[in-house]
Amino acid sequence: MEGPCHSREEEIMEIRSLRRIISAYLNYSDAALADVKRYERSFKKLSSSHKALLPHLPSKYQSLRRCISINANFILNMIQAFDPPVDMSLDADFDEHSNTEMIGNGQLTASDLKRNAESENCSETEQSTCHDDSYCSEAIPSSNTCANSSPSLNVPLVDVDKVRCIIRNIVRDWALEGKKEREECYKPILEELQRLFPDRSADSPPHCLVPGAGLGRLALEISCLGFLSQGNEFSYYMMICSSFILNYTEAVGQWTIYPWIHSNCNSLSDEDQLRPVQIPDIHLASAGITEGFSMCAGDFVEVYGDARQEGTWDAVVTCFFIDTAHNVAEYIKIIAKILKPGGVWINLGPLLYHFAESYGPDEMSLELSLDDVKKVSFHYGFELEMEKTVATTYTSNPRSMMQVKYNAAFWTMRKRRTEA
Ligand SMILES: C[S@@+](CC[C@H](N)C(=O)[O-])C[C@H]1O[C@@H](n2cnc3c(N)ncnc32)[C@H](O)[C@@H]1O
Repeated sequence: MEGPCHSREEEIMEIRSLRRIISAYLNYSDAALADVKRYERSFKKLSSSHKALLPHLPSKYQSLRRCISINANFILNMIQAFDPPVDMSLDADFDEHSNTEMIGNGQLTASDLKRNAESENCSETEQSTCHDDSYCSEAIPSSNTCANSSPSLNVPLVDVDKVRCIIRNIVRDWALEGKKEREECYKPILEELQRLFPDRSADSPPHCLVPGAGLGRLALEISCLGFLSQGNEFSYYMMICSSFILNYTEAVGQWTIYPWIHSNCNSLSDEDQLRPVQIPDIHLASAGITEGFSMCAGDFVEVYGDARQEGTWDAVVTCFFIDTAHNVAEYIKIIAKILKPGGVWINLGPLLYHFAESYGPDEMSLELSLDDVKKVSFHYGFELEMEKTVATTYTSNPRSMMQVKYNAAFWTMRKRRTEA
């Protein structure tokens, strides 16, 4: 995992954000079990005739508990494998206002993280770095029914919801159940890359960047096609998980998780809700990764806005990414800058601007129509080579009665070889 250089203050911010994210992961189980207790309380309130009609529900709740414990075990393994990119002990001397437990010198171990996570104060107010919940297509009970934080858990419930979103992202990227969605979103991009770079050489593979790479499957597939591929991702929720799957899984179907247990809504049957999913669906060691494949942690604007990135990429691939921007024109400007003259930008995704309804007084959100996105792109030297619409879902439960469909824009733009 690569990361940008940070000032000390940025590093402290990163440590705090990481601690909060790890707390969220480790509180997954408590939060999910609290939901099950809620279901049981509702069941208890039923009249005896209604209880008699639904005698299987108590055992469904027990099954949910077993599934939660299996998911929690997967998460614990993931956290234990995680090697924090920063020295977590730094927080100890900097955070004068915090009353969180001081951590000893040296690298934080997984058990330190867990212990620390358990003692984490829930009153933190800083924003987490994962912004992709707007794509989570189905209602997750806790975020809709509870206030922002719960004193009985150690982290705001909104963070726990992010963990549930990650579990759905695991299916999109790393399970057989996600294949249909990957064929809708990733396959057209991969075919386009093959069409645009027919004569790839193993000695000098074209360089392809995937900003907002999520859990890394698309970046990996691009690497397997013979590109020097780099995924960029700024959410540690995502990075912790992708690093575990990419670096620590050894066999196909090594892990079983239960991604659909967190919503009782729109299920055709309890079996559907309780069905397991095996991950990963491929054997990573023999997938055919091209040397140089990497995941780079950090904000796209910060990392690739750097002058040293100028004119270094043959291709930039954005999938469900450009609408994560506060200012999409800034993303486009940077994509244009980092591409070599004649380089290509392939994009697939909707314009569900992530900050449209949630930005603070000091922030901004520019929500452009597709026409205006193209206008800005042309201004920065792009020419449109291909344009289509792709109907797709994002992290959808294929067996749910509710499916959110996007008519995603799909295009290839080429950076002009000479200044216009
Ligand atoms: C909707 S997800 C799409 C993930 C992946 N491309 C896919 O199709 O599954 C958008 C991703 O972009 C990441 N992201 C958002 N803003 C970012 C930024 N400024 N720099 C890097 N990554 C960012 C989010 O953390 C999230 O993982």
